[in-house]
Amino acid sequence: MWDYTDKVLEHFKNPRNVGLIKDADGVGQVGSLACGDALKLSFKLDEEKERIADAKFQTFGCASAIASSSALTEIIKGMTLAEAEKVTNRDIAEFLGGLPEQKMHCSVLGKEALELAIRNYRTGETQQKELEGEVVCRCFGVTDLEIESVVRENDLKTIEEVTNYCKAGGACGACHDDIRAIIEKVRKTLQTQTAPKKQARLTTLQKIKLIEETIDREIRPKLQQDGGDLELIDVQDNRVIVSLRGMCAGCNVAQFTLRDVVESKLREFVAPEITVEEESA
Ligand code: FES
Repeated sequence: MWDYTDKVLEHFKNPRNVGLIKDADGVGQVGSLACGDALKLSFKLDEEKERIADAKFQTFGCASAIASSSALTEIIKGMTLAEAEKVTNRDIAEFLGGLPEQKMHCSVLGKEALELAIRNYRTGETQQKELEGEVVCRCFGVTDLEIESVVRENDLKTIEEVTNYCKAGGACGACHDDIRAIIEKVRKTLQTQTAPKKQARLTTLQKIKLIEETIDREIRPKLQQDGGDLELIDVQDNRVIVSLRGMCAGCNVAQFTLRDVVESKLREFVAPEITVEEESA
């Protein structure tokens, strides 16, 4: 028995927007009865052709497929097409409070049907999803581009996760090496894109301004809670010279305050090489 959230069960038992809009502006169909899950999504735009006024679905599938389709129609109603295009399978799963990992492919089905329905509205194309890319998993007819897409959008790391999201790899296993290679390729690209960029070098004026802002926002409020304060005295390259005031002046934990509060925050928000010293008397 799958561990469904209350919201999945509620949308399964009382699905919203079941049916087919007769004079629909866009219709998209994915899957096939022969393979198990199938979904047909139709939508109608408002009079100004700006927002989705109505959306309906017909599906042949399990509880998750019905709940995902129902959720999708609720999510996109009221959206512009530009907004609907940004809906991901994660949005569908999150709307339902989560789906069992093994059932995530139902949310992917919803996203694909939506893409096709929007394409149908824009181009008039009515055929089912064409296979784009090269078929990697012959058992389920899943292409390299589809696998790349679910790995990228859902941060997948294993073959098992890929199977959960698009079924690829879930039968004979002959495609496992290819799926593994695709996962590695996508993850390498993601790592390159998210690697921290080298911070641009600050001018002296920019650095002083950033130090003052960081003191006002991150440091001074903390010191003032204990009746203390500090004043910026000078900045010499990465040496920041300050003077502790109020309760902080002469306090026997002043050196810890300088290192663990002042220096630590300036390193975090200004530059990692910064050192902080107290003005000598
Ligand atoms: S080819 Fe992918 S599971 Fe058989």
